[in-house]
Amino acid sequence: MTTILKLDNLSKAFGAVTVADAQCYEVQQGEALGVIGPNGAGKTSMFNLITGTLSPNSGTVEFAGQNVTGWSAARRSHAGIARSFQVPQPFVGMTVFENALIAATQSAGMRGRDAERFCLTVLDQTELLPKANVLAGSLTLLERKRLELTRALCAKPKLLLLDEIAGGLTEAECQSLVQTIRDIHASGVTIIWIEHVVHALLAVVDRLIVIDFGKKIAEGEPKAIMDSPAVKEIYLGIEADA
Ligand SMILES: Nc1ncnc2c1ncn2[C@@H]1O[C@H](COP(=O)(O)OP(=O)(O)OP(=O)(O)O)[C@@H](O)[C@H]1O
Ligand SMILES: [Mg+2]
Repeated sequence: MTTILKLDNLSKAFGAVTVADAQCYEVQQGEALGVIGPNGAGKTSMFNLITGTLSPNSGTVEFAGQNVTGWSAARRSHAGIARSFQVPQPFVGMTVFENALIAATQSAGMRGRDAERFCLTVLDQTELLPKANVLAGSLTLLERKRLELTRALCAKPKLLLLDEIAGGLTEAECQSLVQTIRDIHASGVTIIWIEHVVHALLAVVDRLIVIDFGKKIAEGEPKAIMDSPAVKEIYLGIEADA
């Protein structure tokens, strides 16, 4: 197995709020890792530390064998780290295709017909091809989530970070998005997926970590982790030893 991402003693605090507390874990190439934890636990902050929009107070981020801790977000994006945002952030006045093209040209460095063909392939994969010429601002929530996926995939990621992409969807919409994410994972993309919709997560991930107050408090096989006292205590307020 090849390690694609390694967080080593990564710490970050905003004043008294600790969002990463000596965070350590590895992600293997081709893996799908799920991340759960209560609101405010530091999950999105962890993505910000991985993508470089946030700098740690201490510790390191290694990606594809290189220490990228001092790298800018743009450099990490070029190196193959892409994300979807918890709140979709498309360019609403541009079409779906134009949004995809920006990611393919700016993040993946593609040009001309190659970039256009690649975007069409990705739009087909994310089931947005019929909407290619529609303004992003007029999309439904599911379509906006699919556009987030599209933009991330157009960056040709080696590591895809998904932040609550299933949130707010109906059950049927969620199932259809899960199938798309399963297909993306099956095509070989390494995924870290933060999600509160646990059944969606469990349909895809190989391993789960639990974060609370910026600290990893459990890690392992998804169903065993969901049944663990640590998770029950966090989500249900049940004492671990009760
Ligand atoms: N730039 C910032 N400045 C100050 N505080 C911040 C900043 N970013 C995040 N925080 C705080 O850090 C804590 C963790 O936030 P984060 O967004 O990482 O949580 P989360 O686990 O993603 O939560 P949720 O499940 O609600 O999305 C929160 O208390 C948040 O208010
Ligand atoms: Mg968050």
